[in-house]
Amino acid sequence: MHNHPLDPLSEEEIRTAASVIKQQANLDDSAWIETITLEEPGKPELIAYNSGTPVERRAYVCCYEPSSNRTLRGIVGIEAEALSSWEHVPGAQARIVSEEFDLGEKLVRADARFREACALRGITDLEKVLIETWSAGNFGIAEEQGERIAYCYCWLINDAGDNRYGRPIGNLHPVVDLRRRKVLRVDDFGVIEIPPDTAAIRPTENLRTDIKPLSITQPDGPSFTVEGFHVEWQKWRVRIGFNVREGLVLHNISYQDKDRIRPIMHRMSMPEMVVPYGDPSPASFRRNAFDTGEYGIGLALDSLTLGCDCLGHIHYFDICAHDWTGKPTVKKNVVCMHEEDYGLLWKHTDAKTGKARAVRSRRLVISSICTIGNYVYGFYYYFYQDGTIGVEVKATGIPFPTAIAPGETPQFGAMLAPGVQSHVHQHVFSFRCDMCIDGENNSVSEVEFASSPIGPDNPQGNAIQILERELKSESEAQRELNLASARYWKVFNPDKLNQFGIPTAYKLAAGGNALPFLHRDSAVGKRAAFMFKHFWATAYKPDEMYPAGWFPNQSSGEEGLPKWTKANRSLENTDLVVWYTLNFHHLPRPEDWPVQPVVYANFHWMPDGFFDENPALDVPPNDFL
Ligand code: CO
Repeated sequence: MHNHPLDPLSEEEIRTAASVIKQQANLDDSAWIETITLEEPGKPELIAYNSGTPVERRAYVCCYEPSSNRTLRGIVGIEAEALSSWEHVPGAQARIVSEEFDLGEKLVRADARFREACALRGITDLEKVLIETWSAGNFGIAEEQGERIAYCYCWLINDAGDNRYGRPIGNLHPVVDLRRRKVLRVDDFGVIEIPPDTAAIRPTENLRTDIKPLSITQPDGPSFTVEGFHVEWQKWRVRIGFNVREGLVLHNISYQDKDRIRPIMHRMSMPEMVVPYGDPSPASFRRNAFDTGEYGIGLALDSLTLGCDCLGHIHYFDICAHDWTGKPTVKKNVVCMHEEDYGLLWKHTDAKTGKARAVRSRRLVISSICTIGNYVYGFYYYFYQDGTIGVEVKATGIPFPTAIAPGETPQFGAMLAPGVQSHVHQHVFSFRCDMCIDGENNSVSEVEFASSPIGPDNPQGNAIQILERELKSESEAQRELNLASARYWKVFNPDKLNQFGIPTAYKLAAGGNALPFLHRDSAVGKRAAFMFKHFWATAYKPDEMYPAGWFPNQSSGEEGLPKWTKANRSLENTDLVVWYTLNFHHLPRPEDWPVQPVVYANFHWMPDGFFDENPALDVPPNDFL
């Protein structure tokens, strides 16, 4: 049973949707299901729901039919048990699902050409070989065009048995036709000596012994309350959502300011990411991963019973996903929520009297962790007592290891271990923030700073000009960060003014970031065009969800943000969406082997004139706690 229209689909609802598809979609036995997920109700429906009108539960479903090489999608009415729409999407390839990963591995393992190539490298025990079935992308290769192709990468497991990526098999890349279930060819660009055995990830000896217990206790329980997927924590209100593609989604983020609940964001998620690698060699040029759009973050979420980075009182949310037959699979504990002490919130010391007040900061953390191949990504949303919202990606796992011949020096990478290099790459995340600062209609501006010339108005050369200009249309609102002007962006409500008569606003405060090095007209540059701007704002349109398009797998590109914004819609006092591109530029280090200590990439939404004063003035001081 669901309680709210935004609740993720239940086990029963997924089962119903799958059976409707099987009975009503006219697909043959070869067909499988890529996605069954909540078709989120539209904004008018949610408004109506708040005044008592029930909302129909609907599922978005996407299928692939190998016999006809067709990707089809539609909407299932759950209560009606009926398809309300169904269409073939010409040229689209469904995401690669985990069953296809297994299928690709099996096909390659059984292939004589592959076995021969392994034998050439001295590998006889094929069971020790890991074969990963990556999306082939779209590089204009004739025999791959229009087909469902995977490009494989291979490794040998280490002797300790805990690192499947421990010993990369260089230059060996089977190409699989996933539709016809056959190995198309085995690309072999020349034998590279298999790297020697490598360190265990989980050593059992020589562990440090000087760590004493550090206990986090919450004797009175947590300060949050949970009702279904709705969370209240101090003055914050937020609703947890989920889909198999984006994973964790946050809805209806709002803040209680005195007696008002003030909306800030309608919805926030990470709808696309891409990891392009920078080695142009024939074996590597096509390596890139759109982990969200090509595979699905939601399907790869860890069950956090096996550990997350949280201490104290933890509330876990279970989610229901499904396999490619449509069978529901309950994923336990995939979204984690807890409170965290975060050091100093604010402090004031009166230097004359010596009196001080120091207030500790606490934040609410809502997170999930996704294991996708060699990599592990943690997605963290933080809610602070001063009205700030933090977004952070934690990257860990194993940097993508590639073999390098003894004595050679990496040209486009760095050495990780003897015989093992890792290529320079970028992890580029797109965060979609459907804004509603104090209401649905907002505007957006860019703030910059500049020096004034030395002259009568600036005799000492210290003047700093504050320059704010509205970005009034989608073509204006495609921007890059600029250190030279300390640039940032604001989303404001022109109809809601603070005590100074200035529109209430939140600003987007960037953390570390980078620009892409891929050419804009390269194959991946076209498909991930969103990454060439850090900041995009668009007029809200319900089906504009994925910045590289709905079907990035093997796409030819130019879908999503570059296409939508050609309309150059107005952004003045309207329902708008901000897309922030967070690029973590990464040349791995020896210290990232055999497993990478967490690296952090983040940004913040900070109130900027949203409140009339420090909203955390009412947090009691330490001595009170
Ligand atoms: Co990396």
